[in-house]
Amino acid sequence: MNTALKGKHFITTQDWSIQELKTIFELAKQLKLDFARGKFSRQHAGKSLGMIFFDPSTRTRTSFESAMTQLGGHSIYFAPETMQISHGEGARDTAKVLSGYLQGIAVRFCKFGQGNRYLEELRAASAVPIVNMQCDVYHPAQILADYFTIMEHFGENTRGLKLGVSWTYAPNYMRPLSVPQSLILMMPRFGIDVTLAHPPEFQLMPEVIEQAERNARESGTVFSVTNQMEHAFEDADVVIPKSWGPLMHTLDAKQGLALIDKYPDWICDEKRMELTKKNSLYMHPLPADRGKEVTPGVIDGPHSVVYQEAENRLHVQKALLSLIL
Ligand code: CP
Repeated sequence: MNTALKGKHFITTQDWSIQELKTIFELAKQLKLDFARGKFSRQHAGKSLGMIFFDPSTRTRTSFESAMTQLGGHSIYFAPETMQISHGEGARDTAKVLSGYLQGIAVRFCKFGQGNRYLEELRAASAVPIVNMQCDVYHPAQILADYFTIMEHFGENTRGLKLGVSWTYAPNYMRPLSVPQSLILMMPRFGIDVTLAHPPEFQLMPEVIEQAERNARESGTVFSVTNQMEHAFEDADVVIPKSWGPLMHTLDAKQGLALIDKYPDWICDEKRMELTKKNSLYMHPLPADRGKEVTPGVIDGPHSVVYQEAENRLHVQKALLSLIL
């Protein structure tokens, strides 16, 4: 248990020790029980969290906003086009000004090559914690909820579990790399062996792969990368198959969508789920492209815990905000 987390930024779980992350999970467990009993603390009465969304959201906005309300505080939703950001005001001035009013600044900014840089610029200038609600590189709040959900099913000792993270087909737009990247970084630190599967053009950022390999080595776990979707499913306790764009290959939308269209058979279906362990979990951060990324039979089937996973966003984020604001 680490009780000295007030003021700590949350941009990537990589900045947080295992003990610090465990403190979030311990508190989230308590807060989830309190939530079930309709019991809310007023711990953050009088405090405000600013939330800047450069990109759309259903789960992240609602869960962070509700978390602040349930802690007795207030949240302010900002669309950048309604702020002076739209006239070119930079991260430094935005952070310095907002941190004079607020107790925390949360940001979603997924544009490749810009989002994480913007968050780091805010961090450098802010007097209050910066919370990453998803950028181009990381989606740490999602992965907190994912791990918390895994613990609810398998218990607190997750060493030796096998997680398959697989690319899936999904047309129309290029999704960020942040979910698979945050998964491969954090899960090995908790003793989980991770297999990452993707078609050749869908590599993740090399520096993230290297860090994931270091994390796995240091925690005595296995991290492997394959171009065969089935390898991520074989004997897995948990699978998290989702789409991302070929952003290491091309930033051109037309070329990227054409590459995605090469692999419509990369779907999580019943046949692939049969390769997993009997009591395996199917997880997805949502929104899922039904019929493309996953069959309705799997996402609505006995392995799926996607709604529990989505609900857990609220509990882990409330724990996070409770500790850092
Ligand atoms: N999983 C997730 O971040 O969902 P939203 O995009 O709806 O926030």
